[in-house]
Amino acid sequence: MYPDLDGKVAIVTGAGRRKGLGEAIARKLAEDGVRLVLHDLGKVEGSLAPAHGVGASAELAGIADDIATIHPEVSTFQADMRDEAQVAALVAHAVEQFGRLDILVNNAGVGYLFGPLVEATQEMWDTVLNVNLRGAFFATKYAVRQMLTQPVQEGWGRGRIVSIGSRGSKSGSALTSSYIASKHGLVGLTRSAAIELGPEQITVNAVCPNHVTTGLGAWQNEYMARARGQTVDEYLAAMRGRIPLGRVGEVEDTANACAFLCSSQARYITGEAMNVSGGEEMH
Ligand SMILES: NC(=O)c1ccc[n+]([C@@H]2O[C@H](COP(=O)([O-])OP(=O)(O)OC[C@H]3O[C@@H](n4cnc5c(N)ncnc54)[C@H](O)[C@@H]3O)[C@@H](O)[C@H]2O)c1
Repeated sequence: MYPDLDGKVAIVTGAGRRKGLGEAIARKLAEDGVRLVLHDLGKVEGSLAPAHGVGASAELAGIADDIATIHPEVSTFQADMRDEAQVAALVAHAVEQFGRLDILVNNAGVGYLFGPLVEATQEMWDTVLNVNLRGAFFATKYAVRQMLTQPVQEGWGRGRIVSIGSRGSKSGSALTSSYIASKHGLVGLTRSAAIELGPEQITVNAVCPNHVTTGLGAWQNEYMARARGQTVDEYLAAMRGRIPLGRVGEVEDTANACAFLCSSQARYITGEAMNVSGGEEMH
């Protein structure tokens, strides 16, 4: 528990899916009294809509209702992370609802459109990069603009940006070039923003989970198992064999790291890309 988070205002993007990382992060922050804007896309759109599903409006509303039983100050907002005006409106909504913005968690992302590099199309590449990297850039830009209008809070700072990277932020893997490029890019954005915003007392960090069996994670398991000619159980057993702590990640592992990075105990940590991978990734 981080009592210093009580009353802070946070946006968690991509928080509208049951069992997703965003829901767990929001829940954890709510337990510490954070006032929340839960964001998601809200509706499935177009032929490149995520194969692993999106947080549709009813699911987002249901999650907000559940989280309101932990802490009542919860609002929802639908926006496409690929659209700058919609992302700007998301930040404006948080300020309208709660009068300020202290924390942004860039969690929205897609992890599909996999396949051989030589067969990938520009549209596939752009879809993944535009959600995972460009969307995080838009949200960071507008969140920081708001944070800069607010005073530094003694012992905490002026703001926190936490982006959800991946093990794919640190290492490559076959059939996933756009996803891996987007997640490596997120670490570059994190490091540059941390240098630029340090003098303003805004910390910028990334959390890099390994596999977690969310909707997105389950889709990836099925895809990768098929590509290797394995069953999902065989694929997961091989993965567990590579992880020193002997299990895959749970949503709470990432949520705990996020809450720590948002707390005053992490006030001197910026520009980090923190692995939450049971030791699978070490650099
Ligand atoms: N599950 C894993 O194994 C794993 C591992 C490492 C990193 N991650 C990252 O964690 C984050 C959360 O993933 P998750 O596993 O909880 O999956 P998830 O599908 O539950 O969450 C992703 C969310 O992003 C939203 N989203 C997708 N496209 C969007 C768009 N254009 N605009 C707005 N929102 C959009 C989805 O609706 C969804 O709610 C992602 O960034 C993912 O890359 C996941």
